[in-house]
Amino acid sequence: MISRRFRTRTWLVGQFIRVTAKDWHRVKNHILRIERASFVHSIMGSEHSLTEAASSPTAITLLVVVERCVQPAAYAMANKLEEFDDLPGAKDDLHQGHEDTMYLSSVAVAREWRKRGLGSALEREVITIAHNNGFPRITAHIRSSAHLDNHITKSVLHTFPNWYGTGEAFDYVELDLKSHQHD
Ligand SMILES: CC(C)(COP(=O)(O)OP(=O)(O)OC[C@H]1O[C@@H](n2cnc3c(N)ncnc32)[C@H](O)[C@@H]1OP(=O)(O)O)[C@@H](O)C(=O)NCCC(=O)NCCS
Repeated sequence: MISRRFRTRTWLVGQFIRVTAKDWHRVKNHILRIERASFVHSIMGSEHSLTEAASSPTAITLLVVVERCVQPAAYAMANKLEEFDDLPGAKDDLHQGHEDTMYLSSVAVAREWRKRGLGSALEREVITIAHNNGFPRITAHIRSSAHLDNHITKSVLHTFPNWYGTGEAFDYVELDLKSHQHD
């Protein structure tokens, strides 16, 4: 598994681990634990759906391991927009079929690790990997109330007032890294 060292704005240090399809079975239970603790049922990925998503050759699956901690602290998944052609927002994206967009399908941080910069650092890493893989554009569904990291900007393309019955508004957004943040 390829890994890259990170340090967050709050000085947490660890590794971003790029999980490939063949590594999935080794990390699956950690990711399912974080997923189940992070999302309400209507937007929670099942073991089957996450396994299928991670098996795609174009998927970006990242696991976050904080130094000196055994249990992974967070994970994110993304894949090309065309894999999400039945998802509200993504399916009507004018870039469907252009193969130029990565869709960030999931970012989740274990409760005990939140508010220390991991979620934002992970999002920045996904954006950077997507750019390095030749995808100039990245989109996601983000809670409308979210205040993103200063280094990530979002353009709202569509708002869903009650996303999948969560009672919360989510925006379908284009995410952008301010240029000086590429590392
Ligand atoms: C959202 C989440 C990933 C943020 O992780 P984190 O490590 O606490 O984030 P950071 O410490 O980098 O926080 C930076 C800020 O950006 C927000 N943020 C960053 N990415 C976000 C995202 N994708 N959605 C919502 N808020 C986000 C954080 O809420 C925080 O805002 P605040 O300080 O006003 O509370 C985390 O709270 C989580 O896992 N929540 C449950 C799952 C979830 O809602 N995922 C996002 C679906 S859109």
